[in-house]
This record gives sequence, structure tokens and C-alpha cells, in this order.
Amino acid sequence: MTEILKPTKENIEKSARLILNDEIVAIPTETVYGLGANGLSDIAVSKIFKAKNRPQDNPLILHISDYEMMDELVCELNDDIKEFLNYFWPGPLTVVMKKKDIIPETVSCGLDTVAIRMPKHEIAIDFIKECGVPIAAPSANISGKPSPTTAEDVFTDMNGKISVILDGGICNIGIESTVLDLTKKPYTILRPGLYTREDFLKYEDEILIDDAIVSENTIPKSPGQKYKHYAPKAKVIVISTMDRIKSSKEIEKILRENEDLKIGIFKFDETSLDVENENILSLGSVSDLKEMSKILFKGLRIFDSKNVDLIIVEGCNEVGLGFSIMNRLKKSASGNIKYFD
Ligand code: TXA
Ligand code: MG
Repeated sequence: MTEILKPTKENIEKSARLILNDEIVAIPTETVYGLGANGLSDIAVSKIFKAKNRPQDNPLILHISDYEMMDELVCELNDDIKEFLNYFWPGPLTVVMKKKDIIPETVSCGLDTVAIRMPKHEIAIDFIKECGVPIAAPSANISGKPSPTTAEDVFTDMNGKISVILDGGICNIGIESTVLDLTKKPYTILRPGLYTREDFLKYEDEILIDDAIVSENTIPKSPGQKYKHYAPKAKVIVISTMDRIKSSKEIEKILRENEDLKIGIFKFDETSLDVENENILSLGSVSDLKEMSKILFKGLRIFDSKNVDLIIVEGCNEVGLGFSIMNRLKKSASGNIKYFD
């Protein structure tokens, strides 16, 4: 049985002792919950892959609490890079850099690089400091499922597989960090997140976006991007239009055509529906994409707990944070998306 613990000083100390004994502890971060293990221990890191059923070629992020810890892990951490990182750290940014030999193969999966993140979450930072080692932490879901944003969602996937979950309430951002490759200029976004290309362009003249994010036919540089992802049990269909009336008409049509199915509707507050359905969840307002990103994975999991057959989700405008949200949503829907003008 896995324990859900309040993040008191004693419980953080207890969790750190488990980490130094090569056990796994799930921790909250500002993006999603992570499945933490001692990032310098092969044995501990292997347990993460087992608990998640994660493909062996998908490398992990090492979470740090300060630059001294990072110095031990990567080559070429110069003042330029530190200055750039200072604009975004602590925060939802993961950077890929050339690794030092200390990094276990199990973390980097055969690559000569490693991914590093300094989270902006008091519990996560206190915990990493208490452990005194970098914490390898992928999202705390079973591979392929939506990332967990509450301790209960971690429990659903990990009960019996890990020792402890530190409960930090719901994660504020709700989708995973932006992954940025710093190994060569121009820097390249490998996974979109809350920080967007526009944010980085304030400090860099050029920022690329990995082709694999925009095209189906390119092999991603971030191995994790090639696998099935963020998928609830139910089939997902995305309706994408900025016209709320067209959207409601399309949702009503799908409901009429599938009367035999139990359908969940995940919609913006501005979309009004003339239907009777007890499985409607709010994505917030169309003008508040931060609310949408916070609730997205949670909502998909709520629909799963209600055993719906089909989830209809309204899509958002694909710019800024909307680009990152739609990156996740299209994967949840395995590309099943309908666009209307
Ligand atoms: O917000 C987050 O990033 C969360 C929280 C827990 O920090 N973590 C997370 O980890 O999303 P994970 O393992 O689910 O996703 C890490 C992504 C994967 O797509 C992986 O392929 C990529 O980062 N990655 C890790 N190391 C890499 C490397 N050396 N080069 C390129 N991509 C890398
Ligand atoms: Mg993940």
C-alpha cells in the first residue's frame, strides 16, 4: 500500500531517507507530479522505469535545487547560459545539455546529454535539498496515460508500486515543462509548455521548434515525444473552432449520432449546449488558457473514473500556451481532431 503524506518537515525528512535507500517517492511540482528517485543511483532509477512501465530508451529529467548541484552534472555551464536560465528558473523549463560521466546510463538512456530542471515549488525544492542529490523524476503516471496533477491521481496509477506520495494539492500549471535543447545555437524547443518560443525570443535572437512537434513524419529528438501519450481509457475527439455556436452545433450532432454511448463533454464556459448530459466539465473561459492547461489532464482522468466511452473536448487557438495545450490534446486524441473555421 502506498502512503499519501502531508508535506510536513518530518514527512519530507522521512521521504528523503527513503530516497537515499533507493526507494521512489512521488512529489508535487508546479507542472505535474513527478516520480522521484535518486538520480545518481542506477538501482533507484531502474525502479522508476518498472513502476511506470516506461520504454527503456526514454531518458529522465534530473531535478535540482541550485546551480552547485547542476555543476556536477553538465559540461559548459557558463555565465551566458546561467544568465539565460535565471530568466526562467526556478520554473517550468527543462534544459538539455552535454552530460558529465557521473550521470548513470539509466538516466540518459545512451545519449551524451542530460535533461535538467529547477522546479518552482516549495515542497519540491525542500525535498531535493533534504535529499542532497539530484532527483530523477518523470511524470508520475503509467506510461501513455495523462500526467497526474493531484496526489489522488498519482495514487490511482501507482498504488502498491511506490512507498510514498507527498501531497501538495493540485499542480498550478497542469502540463509538463517546456524542454529546450541548449547543446547548440539556435536553441531548439523539443517539447512545448507554459514557456513559449515568444518568451525565449526576449533573450535569444533565434529559437527553433523541433520539426517533430509540428510534423507527424519526423523522428523527435526528445525520445518521449514518439510514444503514445496523455491518453485516457475513453476515445477522445477534439472540436477546434473559435466559433462557439459552430462548436455547440457539432457537439450536439455528435451526441445525437452516438446515443448508445456514454459521452463526456469538456467545454468552454462560453459554449452553451441544449442537451441533457450529466458528464459535462468546464475548461474555464476561452480567454483563460492557464485555467484550461491546469484542468486538462485532471478532467480526462475524471471522465475515466466515470467510465465514459467518448470524450468530446473543445480545442483552443494554437498560439502561445494554446500551442502547447493543443500539442497534448492532439496526442490524447491520437490525432482525432475536427477543425471548423
Ligand atoms: O514538468 C515536467 O517536466 C515533469 C515534472 C515532474 O518535472 N516531468 C516530466 O518528465 O514531464 P517526463 O519524463 O514525463 O518527460 C521528460 C521528457 C521526455 O519527453 C524525454 O524524452 C525528454 O524529456 N528528455 C529527457 N532527457 C532528454 C535528453 N537528454 N534529450 C532530449 N530529450 C530528453
Ligand atoms: Mg511524462
